Amino acid sequence: MKNIIAFAGSNSTDSINKQLVTYGASLLESVEVELLDLNNFELPLFGVDYEREQGIPKEAYKFLEYIKNSNGILLSLAEHNGAYTAAFKNLLDWMSRIESKTFYGKPMLLLATSTGKRGGASVLEIAKSRFPYHNAEITDVFSLPSFGDNFKNGKIVNEEFDAQLKEAVEEFQKKLEVETVK
Ligand SMILES: Cc1cc2nc3c(=O)[nH]c(=O)nc-3n(C[C@H](O)[C@H](O)[C@H](O)COP(=O)(O)O)c2cc1C
Repeated sequence: MKNIIAFAGSNSTDSINKQLVTYGASLLESVEVELLDLNNFELPLFGVDYEREQGIPKEAYKFLEYIKNSNGILLSLAEHNGAYTAAFKNLLDWMSRIESKTFYGKPMLLLATSTGKRGGASVLEIAKSRFPYHNAEITDVFSLPSFGDNFKNGKIVNEEFDAQLKEAVEEFQKKLEVETVK
């Protein structure tokens, strides 16, 4: 059976992106899902001095191993001031010091949601143009605006957005079926 990792680019314990990515993962069929939480990968703030003096923290290696051993990645990015959260960027920076092709050519479905009307559109744009340099195979992107209105009891309640996500997940699933572990 194929296995994927699913996680939110947020360290909030009640992250709305974690809720969205959990829902997205539940739509996959016959796929083993490992739901990861950035809070379980404690990392110091990246700095070249820290790296020179103390090396790369083992938690960065650990997260990268999850990526490497997966068949695909489902990621929902939180947006802080139009960009990645500090927690996610920090993880990416640390992992990129080990392997610049951080995503190992894995199929990736990119999601984002926010409390506002743009639904994390800015961070999605940033990731969509940047992640291919880290060897991500982005299958699709999906943004859910106004989370509070459109998501209730673990599900998207707006039919149009729900259909969009389901279509994106279906594409991702198809990609998983043809990919082998790299
Ligand atoms: C420091 C900070 C900056 C934020 N900037 C944005 C923003 O640029 N765009 C946006 O749509 N929401 C922004 N928000 C609201 C977030 O969308 C909201 O906090 C959301 O819950 C974050 O996702 P998470 O719950 O998965 O961490 C910001 C929130 C914080 C705390």
